[in-house]
Amino acid sequence: MLISEVIQNIKSYCKGSWMGQKIDDEKTRDKVLYGNTDRECTGIVTTIYASVDVIKKAHELGANLIIAHEALLWNHGDHREWLEESKNRTYLAKKKLMDDYGITVWRFHDYIHSGIPCKDGYVDGIFYGIAKVTGWDDAIINNSDISGALYLECEPTTPRQVGKLLKEKWNLTGLKCIGNMDARVTKIMICGHVSEGGDSNSLIRKVDENDINLLLPLELIDFTLTEYVKDSGQLGYDRAILAAGHFNLEEPGMKYMEEWIDDALKQHIDTTFVQAGDMYSFM
Ligand SMILES: [Fe+2]
Ligand SMILES: [Fe+2]
Repeated sequence: MLISEVIQNIKSYCKGSWMGQKIDDEKTRDKVLYGNTDRECTGIVTTIYASVDVIKKAHELGANLIIAHEALLWNHGDHREWLEESKNRTYLAKKKLMDDYGITVWRFHDYIHSGIPCKDGYVDGIFYGIAKVTGWDDAIINNSDISGALYLECEPTTPRQVGKLLKEKWNLTGLKCIGNMDARVTKIMICGHVSEGGDSNSLIRKVDENDINLLLPLELIDFTLTEYVKDSGQLGYDRAILAAGHFNLEEPGMKYMEEWIDDALKQHIDTTFVQAGDMYSFM
Protein backbone atom coordinates (compact mmCIF):
# COMPACT_ATOMS: atom_id res chain seq x y z
CA MET A 1 0.00 0.00 0.00
CA LEU A 2 1.29 3.46 -0.85
CA ILE A 3 1.94 5.85 2.04
CA SER A 4 -0.64 8.19 0.51
CA GLU A 5 -3.23 5.37 0.66
CA VAL A 6 -2.35 4.61 4.28
CA ILE A 7 -3.03 8.25 5.15
CA GLN A 8 -6.27 8.37 3.15
CA ASN A 9 -7.58 5.16 4.72
CA ILE A 10 -6.88 6.40 8.24
CA LYS A 11 -8.63 9.72 7.52
CA SER A 12 -11.65 7.90 6.07
CA TYR A 13 -11.84 5.68 9.16
CA CYS A 14 -12.16 8.72 11.44
CA LYS A 15 -15.27 10.83 11.87
CA GLY A 16 -13.63 13.77 10.15
CA SER A 17 -15.88 16.51 11.50
CA TRP A 18 -15.95 18.78 14.53
CA MET A 19 -19.26 20.08 15.90
CA GLY A 20 -20.96 19.35 12.58
CA GLN A 21 -18.18 21.00 10.55
CA LYS A 22 -16.18 18.81 8.20
CA ILE A 23 -12.41 19.07 8.72
CA ASP A 24 -11.05 21.40 6.06
CA ASP A 25 -8.12 19.68 4.32
CA GLU A 26 -6.51 23.06 3.62
CA LYS A 27 -6.62 24.22 7.22
CA THR A 28 -6.15 20.96 9.11
CA ARG A 29 -2.96 20.37 11.12
CA ASP A 30 -2.98 16.85 9.67
CA LYS A 31 -0.43 17.43 6.95
CA VAL A 32 2.53 15.49 5.61
CA LEU A 33 5.28 17.23 7.55
CA TYR A 34 8.17 15.55 5.82
CA GLY A 35 9.01 13.23 2.94
CA ASN A 36 7.03 11.90 0.02
CA THR A 37 3.96 9.70 0.06
CA ASP A 38 4.11 8.24 -3.42
CA ARG A 39 5.90 5.01 -2.48
CA GLU A 40 5.20 1.72 -0.79
CA CYS A 41 4.79 1.81 3.00
CA THR A 42 7.34 -0.56 4.56
CA GLY A 43 6.08 -0.20 8.11
CA ILE A 44 4.54 2.34 10.46
CA VAL A 45 5.62 3.87 13.74
CA THR A 46 3.06 5.72 15.84
CA THR A 47 4.22 8.22 18.44
CA ILE A 48 3.31 11.49 20.08
CA TYR A 49 6.20 13.38 18.48
CA ALA A 50 8.79 12.41 15.87
CA SER A 51 11.88 13.14 17.94
CA VAL A 52 15.37 12.25 16.69
CA ASP A 53 15.33 9.00 18.68
CA VAL A 54 11.91 8.05 17.30
CA ILE A 55 13.22 8.59 13.75
CA LYS A 56 16.23 6.37 14.50
CA LYS A 57 13.99 3.69 15.99
CA ALA A 58 11.65 3.77 12.96
CA HIS A 59 14.65 3.15 10.71
CA GLU A 60 15.79 0.26 12.92
CA LEU A 61 12.31 -1.27 12.63
CA GLY A 62 12.32 -0.91 8.85
CA ALA A 63 9.42 1.54 8.91
CA ASN A 64 9.33 4.50 6.52
CA LEU A 65 6.19 6.20 7.86
CA ILE A 66 5.97 7.93 11.23
CA ILE A 67 2.47 8.94 12.31
CA ALA A 68 2.91 11.60 14.97
CA HIS A 69 0.27 13.53 16.92
CA GLU A 70 2.28 16.71 17.40
CA ALA A 71 4.40 18.99 15.23
CA LEU A 72 7.84 18.05 13.93
CA LEU A 73 9.74 21.31 13.84
CA TRP A 74 8.90 23.20 16.96
CA ASN A 75 6.24 25.61 15.74
CA HIS A 76 2.55 25.69 14.93
CA GLY A 77 2.17 24.86 11.25
CA ASP A 78 5.67 23.40 11.05
CA HIS A 79 7.00 26.41 9.14
CA ARG A 80 10.61 25.89 8.19
CA GLU A 81 11.59 28.88 6.03
CA TRP A 82 13.01 30.58 9.11
CA LEU A 83 15.02 27.46 9.92
CA GLU A 84 16.38 27.24 6.37
CA GLU A 85 17.18 30.90 6.35
CA SER A 86 18.99 30.89 9.70
CA LYS A 87 20.67 27.53 8.88
CA ASN A 88 19.53 26.20 12.23
CA ARG A 89 21.95 23.37 12.97
CA THR A 90 19.54 21.10 14.85
CA TYR A 91 17.03 21.44 12.03
CA LEU A 92 19.62 20.61 9.36
CA ALA A 93 20.83 17.56 11.29
CA LYS A 94 17.27 16.28 11.89
CA LYS A 95 16.41 16.85 8.21
CA LYS A 96 19.53 14.92 7.11
CA LEU A 97 18.54 12.01 9.34
CA MET A 98 15.07 11.86 7.75
CA ASP A 99 16.61 12.11 4.26
CA ASP A 100 19.22 9.41 4.95
CA TYR A 101 16.57 7.03 6.32
CA GLY A 102 13.88 7.95 3.78
CA ILE A 103 11.34 8.81 6.46
CA THR A 104 7.92 10.33 5.84
CA VAL A 105 6.18 12.03 8.76
CA TRP A 106 2.44 12.58 8.79
CA ARG A 107 0.75 14.54 11.53
CA PHE A 108 -2.42 12.90 12.82
CA HIS A 109 -4.09 15.31 15.16
CA ASP A 110 -7.45 16.75 14.10
CA TYR A 111 -8.77 13.51 12.61
CA ILE A 112 -8.00 11.34 15.64
CA HIS A 113 -9.53 13.93 17.98
CA SER A 114 -12.61 14.12 15.70
CA GLY A 115 -13.36 10.49 16.54
CA ILE A 116 -12.64 6.83 15.89
CA PRO A 117 -15.53 4.34 15.65
CA CYS A 118 -16.88 2.84 18.89
CA LYS A 119 -20.06 1.00 19.80
CA ASP A 120 -22.04 4.23 20.28
CA GLY A 121 -20.78 6.02 17.17
CA TYR A 122 -17.48 7.86 17.47
CA VAL A 123 -15.20 8.73 20.36
CA ASP A 124 -12.11 10.98 20.60
CA GLY A 125 -9.34 8.51 19.69
CA ILE A 126 -6.73 10.12 21.90
CA PHE A 127 -8.77 10.39 25.09
CA TYR A 128 -10.47 7.03 24.61
CA GLY A 129 -7.03 5.51 24.01
CA ILE A 130 -5.72 7.07 27.23
CA ALA A 131 -8.64 5.57 29.16
CA LYS A 132 -8.15 2.15 27.52
CA VAL A 133 -4.41 1.99 28.15
CA THR A 134 -4.93 3.08 31.78
CA GLY A 135 -7.76 0.58 32.38
CA TRP A 136 -10.29 3.36 32.89
CA ASP A 137 -12.71 2.71 30.03
CA ASP A 138 -15.52 1.77 32.46
CA ALA A 139 -14.99 4.97 34.42
CA ILE A 140 -15.72 7.38 31.56
CA ILE A 141 -18.78 9.56 32.20
CA ASN A 142 -20.17 11.69 29.40
CA ASN A 143 -21.28 14.82 31.16
CA SER A 144 -20.89 17.83 28.95
CA ASP A 145 -21.47 20.20 31.93
CA ILE A 146 -18.40 18.85 33.69
CA SER A 147 -16.27 17.28 31.03
CA GLY A 148 -12.95 18.84 30.20
CA ALA A 149 -11.31 16.62 27.66
CA LEU A 150 -12.38 13.56 29.65
CA TYR A 151 -14.32 13.08 32.88
CA LEU A 152 -14.13 9.92 34.99
CA GLU A 153 -15.78 8.58 38.12
CA CYS A 154 -14.01 5.79 39.97
CA GLU A 155 -13.98 3.79 43.21
CA PRO A 156 -12.36 5.83 46.01
CA THR A 157 -8.62 6.12 45.57
CA THR A 158 -5.91 8.73 46.27
CA PRO A 159 -3.71 10.88 44.02
CA ARG A 160 -0.75 8.90 45.33
CA GLN A 161 -2.28 5.64 44.09
CA VAL A 162 -3.37 7.15 40.77
CA GLY A 163 0.15 8.51 40.33
CA LYS A 164 1.64 5.04 40.79
CA LEU A 165 -0.84 3.63 38.26
CA LEU A 166 0.00 6.30 35.68
CA LYS A 167 3.75 5.84 36.12
CA GLU A 168 3.34 2.13 35.48
CA LYS A 169 0.78 2.21 32.65
CA TRP A 170 2.26 5.20 30.83
CA ASN A 171 5.89 4.23 31.53
CA LEU A 172 6.90 7.54 33.12
CA THR A 173 9.88 8.53 35.20
CA GLY A 174 7.84 10.93 37.31
CA LEU A 175 4.88 13.29 37.69
CA LYS A 176 4.51 16.75 39.18
CA CYS A 177 2.25 16.56 42.22
CA ILE A 178 0.28 19.51 43.56
CA GLY A 179 -2.23 19.66 46.42
CA ASN A 180 -3.38 16.98 48.82
CA MET A 181 -1.77 13.70 47.80
CA ASP A 182 -3.89 11.74 50.32
CA ALA A 183 -7.17 13.22 49.10
CA ARG A 184 -10.17 10.93 48.65
CA VAL A 185 -10.58 10.75 44.88
CA THR A 186 -13.73 9.64 43.06
CA LYS A 187 -13.90 12.31 40.35
CA ILE A 188 -11.07 12.79 37.89
CA MET A 189 -10.90 15.28 35.06
CA ILE A 190 -8.42 15.52 32.21
CA CYS A 191 -8.78 19.25 31.90
CA GLY A 192 -6.92 20.23 28.75
CA HIS A 193 -4.34 23.01 28.59
CA VAL A 194 -3.93 25.26 31.61
CA SER A 195 -1.59 27.69 29.92
CA GLU A 196 -3.37 31.05 30.06
CA GLY A 197 -1.52 33.45 32.35
CA GLY A 198 -4.64 35.61 32.80
CA ASP A 199 -7.17 33.36 34.42
CA SER A 200 -8.69 29.89 34.62
CA ASN A 201 -11.77 31.21 36.41
CA SER A 202 -14.33 29.11 34.57
CA LEU A 203 -12.32 25.94 35.13
CA ILE A 204 -11.81 26.73 38.83
CA ARG A 205 -15.54 27.40 39.16
CA LYS A 206 -16.34 24.06 37.51
CA VAL A 207 -13.90 22.19 39.76
CA ASP A 208 -15.32 23.81 42.90
CA GLU A 209 -19.00 23.43 42.04
CA ASN A 210 -18.64 19.79 40.95
CA ASP A 211 -16.16 18.75 43.62
CA ILE A 212 -13.61 17.42 41.17
CA ASN A 213 -10.87 15.76 43.24
CA LEU A 214 -8.11 15.12 40.77
CA LEU A 215 -7.06 17.08 37.70
CA LEU A 216 -4.79 15.77 34.95
CA PRO A 217 -3.82 18.71 32.76
CA LEU A 218 -2.03 18.81 29.43
CA GLU A 219 0.11 21.97 29.61
CA LEU A 220 0.30 23.47 33.11
CA ILE A 221 1.62 26.79 34.41
CA ASP A 222 2.04 27.90 38.02
CA PHE A 223 -0.57 30.66 37.74
CA THR A 224 -4.29 30.18 38.37
CA LEU A 225 -5.42 26.53 38.69
CA THR A 226 -2.14 25.34 40.21
CA GLU A 227 -2.25 27.98 42.96
CA TYR A 228 -5.93 27.25 43.59
CA VAL A 229 -5.30 23.52 44.00
CA LYS A 230 -2.34 24.15 46.29
CA ASP A 231 -4.50 26.35 48.53
CA SER A 232 -7.37 23.84 48.42
CA GLY A 233 -5.01 21.05 49.52
CA GLN A 234 -3.56 23.15 52.33
CA LEU A 235 -7.12 23.78 53.57
CA GLY A 236 -7.71 20.02 53.70
CA TYR A 237 -9.97 19.67 50.66
CA ASP A 238 -9.83 16.52 48.55
CA ARG A 239 -8.11 18.13 45.64
CA ALA A 240 -4.89 17.54 43.70
CA ILE A 241 -3.18 17.79 40.33
CA LEU A 242 -0.95 15.16 38.76
CA ALA A 243 0.90 16.71 35.85
CA ALA A 244 2.54 14.13 33.61
CA GLY A 245 3.17 16.68 30.85
CA HIS A 246 1.20 17.30 27.66
CA PHE A 247 2.99 14.74 25.49
CA ASN A 248 3.19 12.03 28.16
CA LEU A 249 -0.51 12.38 28.80
CA GLU A 250 -1.68 12.16 25.18
CA GLU A 251 0.85 9.53 24.11
CA PRO A 252 -1.22 6.47 25.25
CA GLY A 253 -3.77 7.55 22.63
CA MET A 254 -1.13 6.93 19.95
CA LYS A 255 -0.22 3.60 21.55
CA TYR A 256 -3.87 2.53 21.40
CA MET A 257 -3.76 3.14 17.65
CA GLU A 258 -1.91 -0.19 17.35
CA GLU A 259 -5.23 -1.84 18.27
CA TRP A 260 -7.31 -0.35 15.45
CA ILE A 261 -4.98 0.56 12.60
CA ASP A 262 -5.51 -2.77 10.76
CA ASP A 263 -9.27 -2.10 10.74
CA ALA A 264 -8.62 1.33 9.25
CA LEU A 265 -6.22 0.00 6.59
CA LYS A 266 -8.29 -3.14 5.90
CA GLN A 267 -4.99 -5.02 5.74
CA HIS A 268 -2.01 -5.60 7.98
CA ILE A 269 1.02 -3.36 7.88
CA ASP A 270 3.56 -3.78 10.70
CA THR A 271 2.82 -0.96 13.12
CA THR A 272 4.80 -0.26 16.27
CA PHE A 273 4.16 2.35 18.91
CA VAL A 274 7.42 4.07 19.88
CA GLN A 275 7.26 6.13 23.04
CA ALA A 276 8.88 9.51 22.50
CA GLY A 277 9.40 9.36 26.24
CA ASP A 278 9.46 11.93 28.96
CA MET A 279 10.16 15.45 27.79
CA TYR A 280 11.84 15.99 31.17
CA SER A 281 14.09 14.02 33.40
CA PHE A 282 14.55 15.01 37.01
CA MET A 283 17.51 15.21 39.35
FE1 LIG B 1 -1.56 17.84 22.13
FE1 LIG C 1 -4.09 16.15 21.12
